[in-house]
Amino acid sequence: MPPSSAKTTDGKTTDGKTTDGKTPDGQMPDGMPVIRTIAMPSDTNPSGDIFGGWLMSQMDLAAGNIAARRARGRAATIAVEGITFLSPVYVGDEVSLFGTLLHVGRTSMRIEVEAWRRARESDESQKVTEAIFTFVAIDAQRKARPVPPEY
Ligand SMILES: CC(C)(COP(=O)(O)OP(=O)(O)OC[C@H]1O[C@@H](n2cnc3c(N)ncnc32)[C@H](O)[C@@H]1OP(=O)(O)O)[C@@H](O)C(=O)NCCC(=O)NCCS
Repeated sequence: MPPSSAKTTDGKTTDGKTTDGKTPDGQMPDGMPVIRTIAMPSDTNPSGDIFGGWLMSQMDLAAGNIAARRARGRAATIAVEGITFLSPVYVGDEVSLFGTLLHVGRTSMRIEVEAWRRARESDESQKVTEAIFTFVAIDAQRKARPVPPEY
């Protein structure tokens, strides 16, 4: 069994990412998305395209799901880095959110999220945005608490 990110001769790694850690255009990350949903008319901005805030909330939900699972409890978003909208999302698009836990600190977790769109009647996919979310594990009083060891 090759290591999870072994290099292949075409400059990609066996997990589908390029050697700089990015997924090539048109190729969704391998594995299950954390969230897969359909962009609806209620998610649009006043111009009729999908509202960037809706997409960010889906990304936050996806990262939050990973954080809560790893933290075995409540976690709150403390920071979002480097969000870039690469192309628009349209009503009816299938939107898939993929997340990777990059780092676990004492109380914090850094999670990379990619959002991909697929037009309803097409097989082609396109990355629409990516960002790194930092979540902090919090206790019942909403204070930072240590992330428990993995088990
Ligand atoms: C989450 C919260 C409880 C953390 O409390 P805090 O006293 O600020 O936390 P600390 O300063 O102890 O930092 C906690 C962790 O976050 C990290 N952190 C703090 N600020 C950060 C930032 N701007 N970017 C990335 N990480 C950050 C710290 O390095 C630390 O990580 P570590 O324990 O793994 O080393 C508090 O900031 C909070 O309630 N924020 C609002 C959260 C929220 O409501 N989110 C939803 C927004 S609508």
